[in-house]
Amino acid sequence: MATNITWHEGLTHDERAKLVGQKGVTLWFTGLSASGKSTIATALEQFLLQNKINSYRLDGDNVRFGLNKDLGFSEADRNENIRRISEVAKLFTDSTCVTLTSFISPYKKDRQSARELHEASNLPFVEVYVDVPIEVAEQRDPKGLYKKARAGTIPEFTGISAPYEAPEKPEIHIKSHETSIEDAVKQIYQYLQDKKYV
Ligand code: PPS
Repeated sequence: MATNITWHEGLTHDERAKLVGQKGVTLWFTGLSASGKSTIATALEQFLLQNKINSYRLDGDNVRFGLNKDLGFSEADRNENIRRISEVAKLFTDSTCVTLTSFISPYKKDRQSARELHEASNLPFVEVYVDVPIEVAEQRDPKGLYKKARAGTIPEFTGISAPYEAPEKPEIHIKSHETSIEDAVKQIYQYLQDKKYV
């Protein structure tokens, strides 16, 4: 625990946003493994960048190669994973970035904490539920993880042997088995425009 530290007031978010000409927002994608959250978030990131909107995606697998390489998939480790990502997302969004996070983030209370962390700094937070029936995710199984989970070689696998608590009132709800990637991107972009975040 650090002591003798003092918060340094620099530019405010509003001052930064005015100078850059862009507001920040965190788009918090949540859903089962193989729900399509990373695919949709990547397509959206590309679309935003092509339109000169600064955007960056933080990805579950990727962040676990570096920042969170000390964490596994127990409930406590997932809590800590999401806590750290919430802090990082907040910083990106404070920098005026359209920040896309694609993590399973299976626990409601962790996603609620991420939201509250943003709200405490007056930064917008948008929950995007990438919804798919588990049977469809299991059929897709792009990394062969569901197969391993069923065989018992991956413990605590979300949806099989660990819980996924679906959002009740996400700002955006995408049924990925009924929606094309292009339409999902359009739906989210429309939301961002309607809210004047971009
Ligand atoms: S969490 O629950 O939010 O902390 O998970 P996250 O950081 O998003 O990491 C999910 C990716 O890790 C791989 N993987 C697992 N997922 C779920 N449960 C278990 N036990 C597990 N072990 C490894 C998997 O590739 C997940 O990626 P996605 O993109 O979701 O399929």
